[in-house]
Amino acid sequence: MATRVRTHFICGECGSAQMKWMGRCPECGEWNTLEERRVQEGTASLGAGKAASETVPEPVALPEIPDEPSRRIVLENPEFNRVLGGGIVPGSGILVGGDPGIGKSTLLIQTAAEVARNVGQVLYISGEESAYQIGRRATRLALDEERLLILADTILEQILEQIGKVKPSLVIVDSVQAIHSNASASAAGSVSQVRDCAAHLLRLARQLNIPVFLVGHVTKEGAIAGPRVLEHMVDAVLQLEGERFHAYRLLHSVKNRFGSTNEVGVFEMTERGMAPVANPSELFLAERLPNAAGSAIAVPLEGSRPLLVEVQALASPTSFSQPRRTGNGVDFNRLLLVTAVLSKRLGLNLSAQDIFVNVIGGLRIGEPAADLAIAAAVTSSYRNVPIAAEAALMGEVGLSGELRSVSHLTLRLREAAKLGFTRAIVPRHALRRRQSQRDQISTADGAGAGPSDFPSEIEIIGARTVSEALDAALVK
Ligand code: TYD
Ligand code: MG
Repeated sequence: MATRVRTHFICGECGSAQMKWMGRCPECGEWNTLEERRVQEGTASLGAGKAASETVPEPVALPEIPDEPSRRIVLENPEFNRVLGGGIVPGSGILVGGDPGIGKSTLLIQTAAEVARNVGQVLYISGEESAYQIGRRATRLALDEERLLILADTILEQILEQIGKVKPSLVIVDSVQAIHSNASASAAGSVSQVRDCAAHLLRLARQLNIPVFLVGHVTKEGAIAGPRVLEHMVDAVLQLEGERFHAYRLLHSVKNRFGSTNEVGVFEMTERGMAPVANPSELFLAERLPNAAGSAIAVPLEGSRPLLVEVQALASPTSFSQPRRTGNGVDFNRLLLVTAVLSKRLGLNLSAQDIFVNVIGGLRIGEPAADLAIAAAVTSSYRNVPIAAEAALMGEVGLSGELRSVSHLTLRLREAAKLGFTRAIVPRHALRRRQSQRDQISTADGAGAGPSDFPSEIEIIGARTVSEALDAALVK
């Protein structure tokens, strides 16, 4: 049979296929993203179609679908497990992103060794470091597993062959940007190369029911380099973050088809590798000076887990015509909003003050529930009056100076109580609503908490406005 070559055009942004070239993708509206692709008729193209070896799926009745994907590989590392949603799902593709040097290879070689020890063979494919370099790292981490196989290679076709031959329990590709296909004409590391290589690796992994971790570097803008399409192709996207000069590393789940997103795992980079941190709140509060002005305790929720963190502020007279606002770990717009409310509603003269706000430990708080802690830290520094050391603060600040409710108050209060805080300042509205709902929601807290009653060892103060909350928080 004569093979015919068909040409079509794939959008580099959304992955849609078009029959003819156009300047603008009709699916996602991006300009100049269509790339020519030639496919032999009868062979499967990467994005669409299916390989001959795949079985044709049959529809399944809804109640017969299992609740859980089959046989997850449950890791010993509780923090990694939490972020994955309870373990590694066979056949799934997981993209792990992060800045160079943050600890991706370290975390994954440790995980590879753990799976090799407990489950079966693991194939660790290194496109960046030589087998010797990986060996040295493994020695440093005191890892020596018979079943951990290292393959230093960058050519996709050879890698696919090895995966097919070894059929390991887990594949790690470090990094996907370093892999290139001999069959593709575009340069190694280009968007289409990375996307094609990832597609091939994921497809094979799915066929063989092997989970695969793809390591991806991050660009300055924070996107997983170039191929944002990779995020759509994989089942989970994890992002490893942290300040280079701090030992803490946070692993966020940005996307997870097999678990909840916005989960965070906390690790510490030690000389023996990435160690899970069992009680992150304790770590974040370790170096706190309890009676210093400008320090407040916030209780942000990271996924389903409340964390206690110190928010520090410094207000100092400005020497510029425009006062400066600098936020580290807080949402800059929320910082502007909070300072505007403090100026307008509480009469603080902040227009002549530079304001710096810092979240300790390299954590980034995206939640408005931390507004009150920011407001309290700024006011405390401005007035040079400390905040009661035993108080945790939670509440969103509204434009009228009102204190607005936060979600999952019980979970946050429990974490505060656990760490020995004896007072919590919270929006009064949340208390009233809670009182009226208490009978109905005794167990379901949405985030999977047990009984929803507030912990008794913590005094709860309800405040209607920021001003009331600050009166209760600042030491008289
Ligand atoms: P690495 O895992 O190579 O980062 P990535 O793969 O994300 O680029 O880790 C790099 C840094 O981690 C390096 O500067 C050394 C440090 N490190 C430790 O502090 N302890 C260790 O046990 C290891 C292996 C690395
Ligand atoms: Mg690396």
